[in-house]
Amino acid sequence: MLYCIIATTELWLMQIKDACILIIDDDTDVLTAVRLLLKTEVKEVIVEKNPENIPGLLSRHSIDMILLDMNYKSSINTGNEGFYWLKEIKKKKPDVPVIMITAYGDIDLAVRSLKEGAIDFVVKPWHNERLIDTIKATLKEKVNAEINIITENGFEGMIGQSAAMQDVFLKIRKLAPTDANILILGENGTGKDGIARAIHNFSLRNKKPYIKVDVGALTETLFESELFGYKKGAFTDAREDRLGRFESAHEGTIFLDEIGNISLQQQAKLLSVLQNRQVTKLGSSEAKLIDIRLICATNIPLQQLADETKFRKDLIYRINTVEITLPSLRQRGDDVFLLAEYFAGIYAKKYSKAAIQIDDKGKQKLGNYHYPGNVRELQYAIERAVIMVEADIISADDIIFSPLENVKENRVNADTNLSLMEKNTIQRVVEKHNGNITRAAKELGLTRTALYRRLSKYDM
Ligand SMILES: Nc1ncnc2c1ncn2[C@@H]1O[C@H](COP(=O)(O)OP(=O)(O)OP(=O)(O)O)[C@@H](O)[C@H]1O
Ligand SMILES: [Mg+2]
Repeated sequence: MLYCIIATTELWLMQIKDACILIIDDDTDVLTAVRLLLKTEVKEVIVEKNPENIPGLLSRHSIDMILLDMNYKSSINTGNEGFYWLKEIKKKKPDVPVIMITAYGDIDLAVRSLKEGAIDFVVKPWHNERLIDTIKATLKEKVNAEINIITENGFEGMIGQSAAMQDVFLKIRKLAPTDANILILGENGTGKDGIARAIHNFSLRNKKPYIKVDVGALTETLFESELFGYKKGAFTDAREDRLGRFESAHEGTIFLDEIGNISLQQQAKLLSVLQNRQVTKLGSSEAKLIDIRLICATNIPLQQLADETKFRKDLIYRINTVEITLPSLRQRGDDVFLLAEYFAGIYAKKYSKAAIQIDDKGKQKLGNYHYPGNVRELQYAIERAVIMVEADIISADDIIFSPLENVKENRVNADTNLSLMEKNTIQRVVEKHNGNITRAAKELGLTRTALYRRLSKYDM
């Protein structure tokens, strides 16, 4: 399926707020001035007097941009030391943009530093606003470059321009290259599957296997043989050795879907594998070390999952180094239209139809609906509409939401209707008896206490 990441202003604005900038200059006044200037603009400002510490700082911190002074010994102002360190930075972190700082507005130095890989050049003393603009422009370019890399490499991003989804994309971009265990939370149909895949594709393990297991659907016996594998003869049907899914995912990523639905017994087995990072095939005594990145997903909210009678807390901690919560489609604003058009395009192609538009009434209907089944529900509704539509314009009548998704909703409506009926009846009867609670309770077939309880429940 074709996916794309859509870069918006919000993304790079968020990126700037999240950025970590390193400044190296032997003049403490400069360091203090820059730190004060940038403190409120970015997340972290690291200042360093001694350029010898650059390699160490680059290894320990995730630095988004560097401001590097050219001259360190005030007597020799050739800029050579600055060039040396610029090269060192480029060797170690070729993608981190470097802006050179110099007190000497020497155009030759400026040009040379750009040739050697610096992205820009500022001359001391600088105008604060101009410096901030330069920094912002550099960070924006960096984000755009990364997004281009993402799309060029076929990163299976997801569609979404809303701030909520951009936030998710940003998190993925940051987390994917780490080996952190990730728990993806979100209602049905919010795209947990796609996000898990995207994390793998954008991780350093993307050339290695990506193994998805729907653990929620495995029976007690299948759980072990599927995940851990077995030796020939381990049980009646074990006619030959079989590799478990954990071993298949070695050096890659394993995605355990519907993790919230596994039994306590299965949880214990899983926990032991995750703790020891080794698996033992059924019928074998030999434990094998496994190197996996773990991603789990569930549509059960975390608070509910934390009920210890159903889910072990220690396992939650183990699988949830970081969590990503996918917003419901209701929380994604105009993404609904973006997705609708995207699906209309896909299905028009699939069913060999001409390009299909959605008219204003259709959009209004899409915008007003609450999507209990989220993106999946929208996708099905658009598919149906594309199939049914006569002309090449989808209007409100062509969009039919599945009654299946609305079962819960109807029940909620029924419940509220019932409450409303009860409230109205109580009001009528109490009024009939001029507020005499004993008589009203008697007519309603309730005790006085029960009637009082209802009166307070309905704020009467
Ligand atoms: N942001 C998105 N852009 C494009 N397609 C999406 C997006 N989010 C979800 N989809 C599509 O919606 C459908 C449902 O997504 P997915 O199966 O990933 O949901 P899920 O969260 O895993 O749901 P469940 O909890 O029911 O398993 C898929 O066909 C997926 O391709
Ligand atoms: Mg899923």
